[in-house]
Amino acid sequence: MRILFYDTKSYDSKSFDEALENDRFVTNSDTALEIEYIKPDLEPRTAALAEGFDAVCAFVSSDAGAETLHILHDKGVKLVLLRCAGYNNVDLDTAGRLGIRVMRVPGYSPEAVAEHAMALALAANRRLHKAYNKVRENDFSLSGLMGFNFYEKTAGIIGTGKIGAAMCRICRGFGMKVIAYDVYENPDLKDFVNYRPLEEVLSQSDLLSLHCPLTDSTYHMINLETIRRMKDGVILVNTSRGALVDTNDLIEGIRLRKFGGVGLDVYEEETNNVFEDRSDEILEHSTTARLLSFPHVMITSHQGFFTREALMAIAETTLQNAIDFDQGRENNNEVH
Ligand code: NAI
Repeated sequence: MRILFYDTKSYDSKSFDEALENDRFVTNSDTALEIEYIKPDLEPRTAALAEGFDAVCAFVSSDAGAETLHILHDKGVKLVLLRCAGYNNVDLDTAGRLGIRVMRVPGYSPEAVAEHAMALALAANRRLHKAYNKVRENDFSLSGLMGFNFYEKTAGIIGTGKIGAAMCRICRGFGMKVIAYDVYENPDLKDFVNYRPLEEVLSQSDLLSLHCPLTDSTYHMINLETIRRMKDGVILVNTSRGALVDTNDLIEGIRLRKFGGVGLDVYEEETNNVFEDRSDEILEHSTTARLLSFPHVMITSHQGFFTREALMAIAETTLQNAIDFDQGRENNNEVH
């Protein structure tokens, strides 16, 4: 089975090549997996490169919209292997109509993302990004660095699936009271998480962390109206998907002095940035640049998943998805 691997970074090919050596994936020649790694990301302009391949492997920033899928279909591609959990960048209706199957990696290392969410919360609260630069400049003053204790404060977790549940456990470890909102309650958390309506989670939390997927119902769930309901001085963290937060409303909320800190691993404009070095460019009209002008905003570039453990788990699950597809085996990682 031939797989064209888009948007390859050195760490991707390293982890996939390592995983390919695993006995599980060293199969007979009929089912052997063959990966060709290329640098361009998947989009309409690059989809035709997949001619002669059975599958493409794509990531969060790939454009697997209708136009791309039609080209892939014309070139004979039957499978989109997403090496990520989210699949909002794939037009599933079109894929279904064209008979292209879509598989993802639903949970590779929830702790990787949850630990990064807590890192962002702490960094934004204690202004670690500013403190680091101050000390480098021999400025040993503490002005502008005051935060608050997380101990005995309230953490509000929105979305308590795999990553949200890991975040609940981390917050409990910090001695926080944990409240949560989800459309389904996670029975594993019932001993220490108090599920409340969204309204209450917004208004009672000192730390708010978003862990639900991007869907029509969660798009811009953080907007000026929901921001106004939050506690003054709240720390907001988003490691889920950028469009859960209306960036212009967030900027307005920051201007209104609502936030004690904001930590974002994902943001609306990230698609053109993800994993690119754009340090020489002048980013005109960038709301991200506007956000970065605020002292208590800390932004990272979609690195929540980026641990050794997670990369290996992503590679192994993606390869298993490919083999299951090839051998016609039922697989729960398929999305429709
Ligand atoms: P999951 O599917 O295990 O959990 C998602 C939870 O959100 C479920 O419990 C679901 O019931 C809940 N949910 C759905 N709609 C909701 C709504 N309207 N309001 C409140 N809750 C709702 O997913 P998992 O693995 O925990 O991932 C969560 C998100 O994290 C993914 O959708 C993805 O966007 C993001 N992610 C970010 C990464 C990063 O590197 N920053 C890496 C991996 C995932």
